Amino acid sequence: MKILVPTAAGLEAVVKRQLNSLGYPDTRAVNGRVTVENCTWHDVARLNLFLRSGERVLVCLARFDAPDFDALFDGVAAVPWQDWIDGNGRITVVTKSVNSRLFAHHSIQSVGKKAIVNVLQKRYGALEESGSEYRVELDITDDVCSVNLDTSGAGLHKRGYRTLPYDAPLKETTAAALIDLTVWNPDKAFADVFCGSGTLPIEAALKALKIAPGLNRSFDFERWGCVDDNACRLAREEARDVRVTRKLNIIGGDISPKATEIASFHARQAGVDGYVKFNLRDARQFVSNSSYGVNVSNPPYGERLGDKQTAQCLARDMGKLYKTLDKWNFYFLSPLEDFEKQFGRRADKKRYIFNAGIKCSYYSFNGPKPPSKDN
Ligand SMILES: C[S@@+](CC[C@H](N)C(=O)[O-])C[C@H]1O[C@@H](n2cnc3c(N)ncnc32)[C@H](O)[C@@H]1O
Repeated sequence: MKILVPTAAGLEAVVKRQLNSLGYPDTRAVNGRVTVENCTWHDVARLNLFLRSGERVLVCLARFDAPDFDALFDGVAAVPWQDWIDGNGRITVVTKSVNSRLFAHHSIQSVGKKAIVNVLQKRYGALEESGSEYRVELDITDDVCSVNLDTSGAGLHKRGYRTLPYDAPLKETTAAALIDLTVWNPDKAFADVFCGSGTLPIEAALKALKIAPGLNRSFDFERWGCVDDNACRLAREEARDVRVTRKLNIIGGDISPKATEIASFHARQAGVDGYVKFNLRDARQFVSNSSYGVNVSNPPYGERLGDKQTAQCLARDMGKLYKTLDKWNFYFLSPLEDFEKQFGRRADKKRYIFNAGIKCSYYSFNGPKPPSKDN
């Protein structure tokens, strides 16, 4: 099977590296998707469980030219759907169209679904659609249609621990990627001085403790008749076996009592309470006993929380904090175009990342390398 892993724009290379470290060296990253060839159901299970920053795990079933609806119908109907979908499967078709003659989503969806149902009725007779979920994606780009079966169901950012609502949270998958883009390792102190609902500190702890992010949730493919049960069982066993316990120094701070309460609750839900501390504290007052450390934050944005002046003022204050913690590395995700000017220093690295549809920059302000014994 060929697997496609959609990623947020700007994070393809992070997902490629995560795949690499999971044992998949031959991957290709193009336009918000990373592909892996020759996969088994066991690989599907592993990727759903272990990938920290991919958005979903899709199986590519077909790819064909789709300049018109006849071609779309024939291409979708050429897939042996009876090999994938159970007789009582509930089928949802979702569509994407980029730079293509077929662009009316509703029509693409209904032609696609009709083609799938036609094939299944030949095998099963009348369909009830009362069983497991099957989400089929028809992605038409430049008049070429890819037919993809979504094995994940709910997006992979839904780890299951973040159940309480909070303003402007980072997606868990994005938070994990931001951490991967830093020099942090679990021997170093980690902080998020604007922690909100706790996503960054919790994702750092999950990574350090090697807790598979998907361990506490299920995936659509686990309920499909075509899947070998052993594939899921073995991958879940592996996920339970690789967990470690270790000492960690991970702190989240926020000025809002509601935020620290929610973050602590989420840490308990994620099974990392005891490894992460949340303090009610103004970011400007942050101090640490660790001379070396890494802070990763998305401070309030002008667009979504507070106003632009407040965001600029906080960027200035973070520049001052950086000077007091002169051996720490600071990373900020912000849409403020003059963040560096306010911070008072040119970033050592700046990457463009989309967060909730907002174009942001991820600024890295490096500290010195620790001597190797502290590393
Ligand atoms: C964009 S949210 C962070 C969201 C967080 N990453 C998450 O996933 O939930 C920014 C947070 O900064 C907090 N905040 C605003 N001003 C602050 C300050 N001076 N010190 C500490 N926290 C502050 C807000 O209460 C809010 O929770």
